[in-house]
Amino acid sequence: MVYGRRSMEADRLRAIPLFQDLDDEALKLIADLATEFEEPAGWVLIEVGQPGSGMFVLEEGTVEVTTPNGRSWELGPGEFFGELALLTDHPRKARVQATTPVRCLAISRSDLSRLLEREPLIAVAMLPKLAERVDAVH
Ligand code: CMP
Repeated sequence: MVYGRRSMEADRLRAIPLFQDLDDEALKLIADLATEFEEPAGWVLIEVGQPGSGMFVLEEGTVEVTTPNGRSWELGPGEFFGELALLTDHPRKARVQATTPVRCLAISRSDLSRLLEREPLIAVAMLPKLAERVDAVH
């Protein structure tokens, strides 16, 4: 995966539902710690069973999430993935593959825990999706 750091304006970050209620200072923090990258259609971003090193937020494009029991979901712009292994310390629960070219933000495990401590609104915004996903993978 090739990571390229570019500046991310507050407006683009605020378009992401997870970040929509944050103030400028928090958005600047995210812009500083997140890494933006692009990958082509077909790229496997996450493989089941790997240790989790980061969480991703999809800025453009779509991905397909497939669990080992064969269920799948499509995620689109503004949605996040890769959080479960970071929050639980378990291996990755699903495969995530780009179905179109994608542009994503990556946040590392250590940055995510610092970010959630400083900006608990992000954790609150994640909760409904977490509940759905934990339910679906078990
Ligand atoms: P993680 O287990 O770290 O890596 C695979 C990711 O797929 C997982 O985190 C979630 O972000 C995502 N995922 C797992 N189950 C679902 C689901 N039911 N719906 C959407 N995304 C999911």
